[in-house]
Amino acid sequence: MAERPYIVGNWKMNGTRAMLSEARAIDRAAQRYMKAEVAVAPPYTLIHAVHREAEQIGIGAQDCHPGAEGAHTGDISASMLADAGAKFVILGHSERRGAHGESNDLINAKIESALEAGLRIILCCGESLELRDAGKAEEFVLGQLRASLPKIEDAAERLTVAYEPLWAIGTGRTATVEDIEAMHAAIRKLLDETYGEEHSSQVRILYGGSVNADNAREILSTPEVGGALVGGASLSAESFLGIVVAAS
Ligand code: G3H
Repeated sequence: MAERPYIVGNWKMNGTRAMLSEARAIDRAAQRYMKAEVAVAPPYTLIHAVHREAEQIGIGAQDCHPGAEGAHTGDISASMLADAGAKFVILGHSERRGAHGESNDLINAKIESALEAGLRIILCCGESLELRDAGKAEEFVLGQLRASLPKIEDAAERLTVAYEPLWAIGTGRTATVEDIEAMHAAIRKLLDETYGEEHSSQVRILYGGSVNADNAREILSTPEVGGALVGGASLSAESFLGIVVAAS
């Protein structure tokens, strides 16, 4: 397991102010499990409120607009997120690539804007079941990353990559440990080539896709797995903390 695993809850489009008590419980408990770095990405509407509740955990967002400000009805810029208390932003999630047609170029522009605003990035990548079955998973994932990894050397300090096979998201089906290990090794090689080994070593590679308290320990023990990006199981303090405990 990585020295300090990073366990991030992505609440997706879930949560009203009633979720603040869950955030409070996660924050209080996270103080006891200092071995893991714990963070949550609530919907925009809760970022500031969760930020005010949290003393220990990191707060992030699930997306941002590539521009800094302007006439973009309904959008939120990276600097607005930072102002609300976010410290990181998840970019390139497959649900945004799919439902909003986000291209690697757009994701790259969002990354630049987020770095400019002082945020850390969790950059998501992952293949469909068709690509995995066709033996093209690695080629596809590395292609996504080649096209969107920020090219400046010191970006590595603020970058986390999350590998999430699409067919494992919200399905209860996880990739095998062998598949996770092979993909994470390929991603690490690309990060080494892009940033040099010294900088690349600062980039954690998370696994995401049906992680829960029962499978977390095995997944987090896999070489090059630096943590987990958790969807469904992050929506209650009890199930999320089960993963945090497994990482500790
Ligand atoms: O961002 C989180 C991932 O999409 C994983 O979601 O844990 O519900 O499968 P899941």
